[in-house]
Amino acid sequence: MKNHVLRPLWIVLAVIILILTARHFMVPNNFGVHGEGFTYNFHRLSNVEEWRNFKVKYQGREYCRDCHDANVESSAGSKHGAIQCENCHGPAIDHPDDPETLDIDTGRELCLRCHAALPYPDNPRARIISIDGDLHNPDTDCIECHDPHNPDLEEG
Ligand code: HEC
Ligand code: HEC
Ligand code: HEC
Ligand code: HEC
Repeated sequence: MKNHVLRPLWIVLAVIILILTARHFMVPNNFGVHGEGFTYNFHRLSNVEEWRNFKVKYQGREYCRDCHDANVESSAGSKHGAIQCENCHGPAIDHPDDPETLDIDTGRELCLRCHAALPYPDNPRARIISIDGDLHNPDTDCIECHDPHNPDLEEG
């Protein structure tokens, strides 16, 4: 064969070898299709074990009931009933072994995260009843006037 045909051929071969070598070092050993069929497609087998050992950080409201029954009850019947306790207090995975690990954030920002008026009417978040943080009693913490576990305003 002529040189001008061979030279590009060598380059193509070199690139293929380079890619295969790189693949050998970069793709984990247990990467592939495991089990019958392609149900789970290509994946790393050890990833299954990693997710099994993944530490869940949130406990959910029912876990709180045993020790904070009053807060759970008053929230449940209120307009904050749909909000998980840990949404405001943070993940409770190490609580109550270490009660101090749970936050009590008493600032206005905690509430404004959901109650600041949004200029995007189509966003579901904008449907939550809102106030203007700059005008609505700006110098006082919200919880001075509203109970976070039962914020319901008087009827009428
Ligand atoms: C097995 C009992 C137990 C459970 C379950 C429990 N707590 Fe507590 N919690 C405590 C104790 C004990 C304290 C410390 C004394 C106190 O303030 O009542 C505490 C304190 C707190 C405090 C105040 C922390 C501070 O910095 O002073 C918050 C907030 C709290 N818990 C929220 C929660 C939430 C939210 C849940 C559910 C996800 C929960 N707790 C589940 C026992 C529990
Ligand atoms: C909307 C935010 C919010 C939610 C939701 C919320 N909390 Fe609180 N929580 C607060 C704030 C703010 C304080 C501090 C109140 C204060 O100092 O007057 C507090 C205080 C507490 C305290 C310590 C004082 C007390 O009342 O005994 C406990 C315990 C507690 N919360 C448990 C819970 C549990 C259990 C739930 C779920 C049923 C929950 N919280 C849901 C914001 C929230
Ligand atoms: C000095 C007391 C006080 C403080 C502080 C306060 N509020 Fe209010 N808030 C009220 C009163 C009273 C009403 C009912 C009358 C009204 O609509 O103004 C109200 C109404 C609301 C409403 C219902 C608005 C509506 O259109 O019906 C929301 C939501 C609210 N407050 C959230 C907050 C948040 C969030 C904070 C902190 C950033 C806060 N408030 C601070 C007294 C207070
Ligand atoms: C995770 C989002 C979230 C956070 C954080 C939150 N709220 Fe709410 N709040 C809601 C929702 C949802 C409602 C019910 C809205 C509705 O009915 O339109 C509500 C309702 C209210 C109402 C109106 C009650 C009524 O009778 O109409 C007040 C007042 C209120 N919240 C105060 C607070 C205060 C004070 C804080 C901070 C301690 C706070 N909220 C934090 C989501 C939140």
